[in-house]
Amino acid sequence: MKRLRTIFLSIGAVLAGLFVAVVPAQAATSQPCDIYGSAGTPCVAAHSTIRALYASYNGPLYQVKRADGALLDIGLLSPGGIANAAAQDSFCLNSTCIINEIFDQSPRHNDLTIEGAGGAGSADVGAPANALPVSVGGHTAYGVEISAGMGYRDNTTSGVAVNGQPEGMYMVASATHVNGGCCFDYGNAETNNQDTGNGHMDAVYLGLRCEFGGCNSSGGPWVAADLENGLYQSNTGTQASDPGPGIIPFVTAMLNNNGQNHFALKRGNSQTGGLTTTYSGSEPTVKSGYSPMHQEGAIVLGTGGDNSNADVGSFFEGVMTAGVPTDAADNAVQANIVAAGYGGPNGVPGGTLTPGSSISLRATTACCTTRYIRHSAGDAVTSVITSTSSALDKNDATWIIRPGLANSSCVSFESKNYPGDYLRHANYQLHRQPFDGSSLMAQDATFCPATGNIGQYTSFQSYNYPGYYLRHYNAIVYIAHNGGSNPWDNPALWADDTTWQVSSPWA
Ligand code: AHR
Repeated sequence: MKRLRTIFLSIGAVLAGLFVAVVPAQAATSQPCDIYGSAGTPCVAAHSTIRALYASYNGPLYQVKRADGALLDIGLLSPGGIANAAAQDSFCLNSTCIINEIFDQSPRHNDLTIEGAGGAGSADVGAPANALPVSVGGHTAYGVEISAGMGYRDNTTSGVAVNGQPEGMYMVASATHVNGGCCFDYGNAETNNQDTGNGHMDAVYLGLRCEFGGCNSSGGPWVAADLENGLYQSNTGTQASDPGPGIIPFVTAMLNNNGQNHFALKRGNSQTGGLTTTYSGSEPTVKSGYSPMHQEGAIVLGTGGDNSNADVGSFFEGVMTAGVPTDAADNAVQANIVAAGYGGPNGVPGGTLTPGSSISLRATTACCTTRYIRHSAGDAVTSVITSTSSALDKNDATWIIRPGLANSSCVSFESKNYPGDYLRHANYQLHRQPFDGSSLMAQDATFCPATGNIGQYTSFQSYNYPGYYLRHYNAIVYIAHNGGSNPWDNPALWADDTTWQVSSPWA
């Protein structure tokens, strides 16, 4: 595969040269690796299931593996553009797919495959391929939704910093899908999946883990440097002044390390604005072994260096550079990420049950016609939402229609502000939860719409519990069976409570 891609890219480079000679110049968009390359710090790794990270890239982004073992490389809609998610959708229709490999777009071909067993975790599994649909630049594409036990790695890389060489890296991830398990990392790690000592890793981390205590009272998540045996927010481990990016759907997390005596951490909102430097200073001083660094040059995504894999996270794109990028290059890359339009409109009108449409679900029972389904502390409830409600309430009450995770002729409801989290029932109650790739969750999160049980509007029947419908009861959302044995199966107002108006999205 690497050899074929090399030939392909070489031919492409020649053709690109000819093309430039005979065709009037077009508005060239510099993608992150063009920016870093021009600044003298070329990418040595460029991974994304979402978009091209070079303006001229036109190869595969990732490979999916279907339940029957069949493989498909997923490419781009256009050179330098967005992933062709429709190819995945049709290949995986009526089956399930995992992300089997994430190709390196850089000429180094540092492709990531599913990680093997390590010192702290048994062999990983691949992330479900359709668990993290997002909108970018008006198109839908799939991110990598890492649950515990999932991760990717390349232990035989080319060009990646080793033994104190300088490097930079960033990833676009989500602050809405994090935990305190070790370690949602992207970057440099050991080549043997073992913890080989301080300074043998140099990876950017996003999550709730506060290994040195005293982290900011915001509760995180925070960006940190996993330098092995420590997630460092600063040379002392902690950066108490840093509240983190906030619980926002797309975060740019950056780490620059000169490999000798200095590292810096930056973060930004991938949808708007610039970067904030949260730390710039000496290598860790609370433990020895980090000055100089001892990187080994493997690349890890979604686990710690020793395959600690208790973490969760969402990955959209990431690159590693040879050399520490300039601030100007980092800022230009952040501007490029913002311009890519993560989470922007995807072209599907709101307020319908068409996949990609954002909706809100209004109760129709006479008591409650200003109430909408929203998540609160992970549970699905109804709340009164009006035009003066807070942005948080409006976002919590907005859902993106997805093809049903278990049956594409039905629908699933993805949280607007928690990408990758879906409404699912468990013990008959509805919750917001990250898709874990299991068949059970796929079924629990699939609902089949039909004319409302009051003869108008819409009712949603559970896919795996036929006869059970989405119902509000005392402001909590359940699946309910008319006259069943649970309190919320109460026949009084059952038809009204199970009927919803599919409305324009509040957010
Ligand atoms: O540094 C934190 C973690 O410690 C590393 O990722 C892992 O290799 C070790 O367990």
